[in-house]
Amino acid sequence: MARRLTEKKIVVASHNAGKVREINDLLRPFGLQAVSASELDLPEPDETEDSFIGNALLKARAAAVASGLPALSDDSGLAVDALDGAPGIHSARYAGPDRDFRFGMERLNREMGESGRPERSARFICALALVWPDGTEAAFEGRVEGEIVWPPRGTRGFGYDPVFRPAGHAITFGEMDPDAKHGMSHRADAFRQLIAACLTD
Ligand code: IMP
Repeated sequence: MARRLTEKKIVVASHNAGKVREINDLLRPFGLQAVSASELDLPEPDETEDSFIGNALLKARAAAVASGLPALSDDSGLAVDALDGAPGIHSARYAGPDRDFRFGMERLNREMGESGRPERSARFICALALVWPDGTEAAFEGRVEGEIVWPPRGTRGFGYDPVFRPAGHAITFGEMDPDAKHGMSHRADAFRQLIAACLTD
């Protein structure tokens, strides 16, 4: 059984402002005070593992050791079937050194066209890891199924949101109200598991 989080202050082991914002929205109902790795000026470790959970654990371990606080990290990405699961764990790097997601979305559309495969199916995957300074660890993986649309639609959210339309919905994450995205996203799915295991009695 996973350890319960009783501390009120934690560090969110991410320098991605969009992710930190969404994680804070999801943590707020639990009365947790979350400071970000950027606020504490923590170094960003290289993501050297070959899985979402492996990279999430690596980031949370580094932040817990450096801050002395329980650390929550998110490693996430978009897996596209026509690209055999790419960009996957490389989703941030796929958008180039400047993390230009307009470029990343155009690259995705181009490579899907070049693949010659008709399927548009894809999923967002999110691994959340919670690591305490004494080395106790818990990790969870969530996902949301959908399709890649072209051209991009909407200016909300972040990253690849404008090209991802979740299954059963007419609009993309980029067009969706943030509360609606929080109700169905890969991050929300992983959070539900973390809350059940570590935040509720
Ligand atoms: P990393 O987990 O920091 O390595 O980066 C994950 C990357 O996946 C982000 O930079 C985004 O490009 C993408 N990503 C993860 N979650 C989302 C999401 O909810 N919406 C859009 N893009 C996402």
